[in-house]
Amino acid sequence: MGVKPILEASRLTKVFGRDNLSVTALREVSIEVQEGEFVAIMGPSGSGKSTLLHLLGGLDFASGGKIFIRGKELTGLSDKELTLTRRSEVGFVFQFYNLLPTLSAEENVLVPVVISGRSPLEYQDKLDRLFSLVEMEDRRHHRPNQLSGGEQQRVALARALIMDPAIILADEPTGNLDRRHGREVLNLLKESAAKMRQTIMMVTHDPLGAAVADRVIFLRDGSVVKELRLGGDNDSEAIIAGLKELGD
Ligand SMILES: Nc1ncnc2c1ncn2[C@@H]1O[C@H](COP(=O)(O)OP(=O)(O)OP(=O)(O)O)[C@@H](O)[C@H]1O
Ligand SMILES: [Mg+2]
Repeated sequence: MGVKPILEASRLTKVFGRDNLSVTALREVSIEVQEGEFVAIMGPSGSGKSTLLHLLGGLDFASGGKIFIRGKELTGLSDKELTLTRRSEVGFVFQFYNLLPTLSAEENVLVPVVISGRSPLEYQDKLDRLFSLVEMEDRRHHRPNQLSGGEQQRVALARALIMDPAIILADEPTGNLDRRHGREVLNLLKESAAKMRQTIMMVTHDPLGAAVADRVIFLRDGSVVKELRLGGDNDSEAIIAGLKELGD
């Protein structure tokens, strides 16, 4: 291809615990993701999907192997450099929205801005655009407990997007939404990413959700066992067949 991947994992290994209690969550996983690509990660419970996202986002350390963001090796960075890279390059969306209960929707979305030491005033236009994108204009001043699950997830999505991260790592972002709201969140994610040329890695158990991706990576027992490039006529069928092969 000749294009340098925005995100690369090379023989990434993660072992939790030690001695006879150790669990190998990832075994020499190698992945390359191109800028603007939307990759879905699928596999049975315990196959290492969340662990992979945590390592890629610098939220946890690898036991072996290397991670590169735009060719820069994460594994070689100091804690401080890692934090800075993560803040400037990566946005996270989790299944549990992790919104702060005492803050309004708007204040929650601004948390990454405040953490980075910037002024929320600079982000007013962006905030307006994001609340319009997630269709939450009339809910900006509500607190999380005054919002439905789907609305909270949309706030979490806006929070992940506020700093225009180049890479969005999403762990079952629609995991506890009903089908309709799940699809809405996925479409928002895809739309925003396409507009901003963002790269997405998303863990999902939903074959129809995964079908919006450009590529699906299947994990089993911590290894990549299959990859599927999408864009054909039978994407969801191919994904379901892939999951069957895994025994998921
Ligand atoms: N902090 C931890 N300490 C010990 N073992 C862990 C830890 N986190 C994950 N594991 C183990 O590593 C393996 C992979 O876990 P991981 O959370 O990545 O799976 P997953 O594919 O995301 O599963 P799910 O679909 O259930 O979310 C599992 O066997 C899990 O028990
Ligand atoms: Mg998980």
